Amino acid sequence: MKKDNLKEQLTLFRTNTETDIPKGDSTSTSDEIELVSFRELVPEIKHTGYLTHAIFAYPAKFIPQVVRYAINTYTKEGDWIIDPFAGSGTVGVEAYLCKRNAVLLDLNPLLKHIMPLKIYRGKERLSEGHLYKLLDGMRESTHQFTPAWSNIAYWYAPEILDVLSQYWGFINNTDDEIYSTIIKSALLKVNKRFSYTEDRTPKLAKSKRKLKATDELLKENWRQQLEEMTRSLSLKTLRDLNDFMIHTHDHFEHLGEVEFHSGVDSSYYSVLRECDALITSPPYLQAQEYIRSTKMDLFWLGHTEKEIQELSRLEIPYRKADRQIRTETLDKIRKRLTRDDLQKRLDSYFCHTVNALENSMNQLRPNAAACIFVGNPRVDGIIVELWRILAEYFTVRGFVFEKVYEDKIKARKLFGARKNKNPDGMKSEFLLILRKSAIYQTSAQRCGPSPQDKGSPQHVSRKSPDSDAS
Ligand SMILES: C[S@@+](CC[C@H](N)C(=O)[O-])C[C@H]1O[C@@H](n2cnc3c(N)ncnc32)[C@H](O)[C@@H]1O
Repeated sequence: MKKDNLKEQLTLFRTNTETDIPKGDSTSTSDEIELVSFRELVPEIKHTGYLTHAIFAYPAKFIPQVVRYAINTYTKEGDWIIDPFAGSGTVGVEAYLCKRNAVLLDLNPLLKHIMPLKIYRGKERLSEGHLYKLLDGMRESTHQFTPAWSNIAYWYAPEILDVLSQYWGFINNTDDEIYSTIIKSALLKVNKRFSYTEDRTPKLAKSKRKLKATDELLKENWRQQLEEMTRSLSLKTLRDLNDFMIHTHDHFEHLGEVEFHSGVDSSYYSVLRECDALITSPPYLQAQEYIRSTKMDLFWLGHTEKEIQELSRLEIPYRKADRQIRTETLDKIRKRLTRDDLQKRLDSYFCHTVNALENSMNQLRPNAAACIFVGNPRVDGIIVELWRILAEYFTVRGFVFEKVYEDKIKARKLFGARKNKNPDGMKSEFLLILRKSAIYQTSAQRCGPSPQDKGSPQHVSRKSPDSDAS
């Protein structure tokens, strides 16, 4: 690590807010830490999958109650909210429902397929009859689409692959944008269920259980089951969209904008827009490979092997760090970590997570809140208090520590039907609130020019160190 770099990090915009951060490991004893249940704080949201939230499965989604709470408490109508790790766009949906605007960034290209359905802007009720007509046409189709995935035969029985290719062939040749997107969202779930991969775990894994189940299925009326699943999931999504439309119909004129940038590396990409709040949940420190976990979906949606490989290389925390983030708590953890590979992962995680947060936090107006939702995972048995490390980093760079909420994890749906009581060995999740000070100056522009630059494009990006990675 370069000495100059360290000096810069420790001296820029030092404020006297550092001492406000509660000290110690036992977080729930401090006054600034409020023990809450976001589910109870937001009783108007009855279940996490309401309206369009459950249309797509995505690993480690936000529960909408956290986002709604942050929106209600830290923003007002018409505000712009930025989320540099938008995933499946929970912040976008909640912002839209609450008449705020949102700008969403994520490395995963799924975001661009997801958002048009999740914030459906149609004014007319969608017709179930029309959907059925399309589904009937799909059965008779002569079109074929096979994903550009060299390994595809490994994941499907040949007769199932044939039918799925026919369905996708039909849907890719249908002009009816919204109806075909509805059917695609259903087919993504069907693709997984009728493949050899375990559909209860995020990562692709051929299991004995699934192989046996598929063999049994092939002896039965599998085609009818596949059609029924496609039909019922499509119908459910169409009804969710109609509910969403009815729910948003009255205040249609006042609903916000949701801008999304998918397939972008937030560590080296930034939008040139002033925002009024940041609400985000960064990737986990422990293995959670979002691109690999969703790669079956990405192939069926037409993405190529090369594209997917390149995006995988940019995922946090499996990439080269270009600087070392230093804070009191992080330095203590480094001293205790004996394994080289874990040191590297820690450095990579903090370098790129902080880069991405900093790029977005640079775009915040003075006094705007940054709401960052994190866990406190363990590395080699050592607890990594992410919220504390981020608070330490940003309070010497023009942000003021406001408070931290602690929400005990009961059960978190990490993916599909699997409930994990304790993701990454964590017992609580934390919502850290930082407030941008009025005297803040852009502390580390990792992407080039500032938003004030005249005639600048809508976003800026710069080459990441991974482009030279060997
Ligand atoms: C915890 S998930 C966010 C889930 C999201 N809050 C939701 O409700 O769906 C973290 C996200 O970080 C994204 N990510 C990982 N590395 C990234 C990078 N370099 N640039 C942008 N996004 C990245 C992953 O694709 C993933 O969607």
